Amino acid sequence: MRAGTCLEVGKGLPGFCGGSIIKEKAGEGKGMDGNYISAVQLTRPLPEGSYLRGLPAVRYLLENRELRFPKPVTFFVGENGTGKSTLLEGIAVAYGFNPEGGTRNFTFSTRATHSELYRSLTLVRRAYASDGFFLRAESLYNLASNIDDMDGAPSPAPRVVDSYGGVSLHRQSHGESFLAVVRNRFGGNGLYLLDEPEAALSPASQMALLAALHRLVEKNSQFIVATHSPILMAYPGARIYELTPDGVHTVDYRETEHYQLTRRFLENPEKMTRILFGET
Ligand SMILES: Nc1ncnc2c1ncn2[C@@H]1O[C@H](COP(=O)(O)OP(=O)(O)OP(=O)(O)O)[C@@H](O)[C@H]1O
Ligand SMILES: [Mg+2]
Repeated sequence: MRAGTCLEVGKGLPGFCGGSIIKEKAGEGKGMDGNYISAVQLTRPLPEGSYLRGLPAVRYLLENRELRFPKPVTFFVGENGTGKSTLLEGIAVAYGFNPEGGTRNFTFSTRATHSELYRSLTLVRRAYASDGFFLRAESLYNLASNIDDMDGAPSPAPRVVDSYGGVSLHRQSHGESFLAVVRNRFGGNGLYLLDEPEAALSPASQMALLAALHRLVEKNSQFIVATHSPILMAYPGARIYELTPDGVHTVDYRETEHYQLTRRFLENPEKMTRILFGET
């Protein structure tokens, strides 16, 4: 598939035409090692005057054309507003996921707020993933409603909620429902895009998610995760991209501001709170 063409991937999205997927050149791919998307490229112009051009994540793509995903787990980390969700959402929509989350079969839309970035992106595909999910903590509620609505309609098909553990996600806490989706719906051999999965999770549940993530990586899965969690980003061997106003940098876990600041805080919370309250 050539870059620049409209694809079937966005079927179901009104007026979708834009983001595309190209197959990696012969010899570059390693086969089914769980890396389905090896890079995201900016291949078409962004709208003139768009705020997107000012986001660190997008500026990096404007200057370097592509961001590579050489590991099964990639993290986007960095300050609020640096464009992590915008980039993740752009990748998700270019891949064919519903902008509000779910599998590629979900087409519900409560409010079209996703950016136009996906139209300018091309994903470099190594292999087909047989499973996939775009999970956003902020729109899990809408996803849960959509599942309940589908199961409420008369149909001979099996209940959708059975793929999610059998209990309506609305009948579980935010964190419980989040883990239920990962544990029951993520089957492996998949591409999973997660936006701040820690938002609903206690530290213990974040560790449970880390373990679930590892089991899925062992089953040939690829994760791209936007996160602020120093627990999640500890995944061994992950590629961590730190988005800053200066650009996008590959960093080691212990070099991330999240790790360093959290560590300094936990080592001496009394001192840190005195500094924060202007008492020193
Ligand atoms: N429609 C819009 N018009 C103008 N600016 C926008 C629009 N939508 C988002 N932005 C801006 O884009 C920037 C990046 O937002 P994004 O949600 O990608 O950040 P983020 O890195 O995910 O932040 P956080 O860590 O808080 O989740 C924000 O500063 C936001 O104000
Ligand atoms: Mg975000």
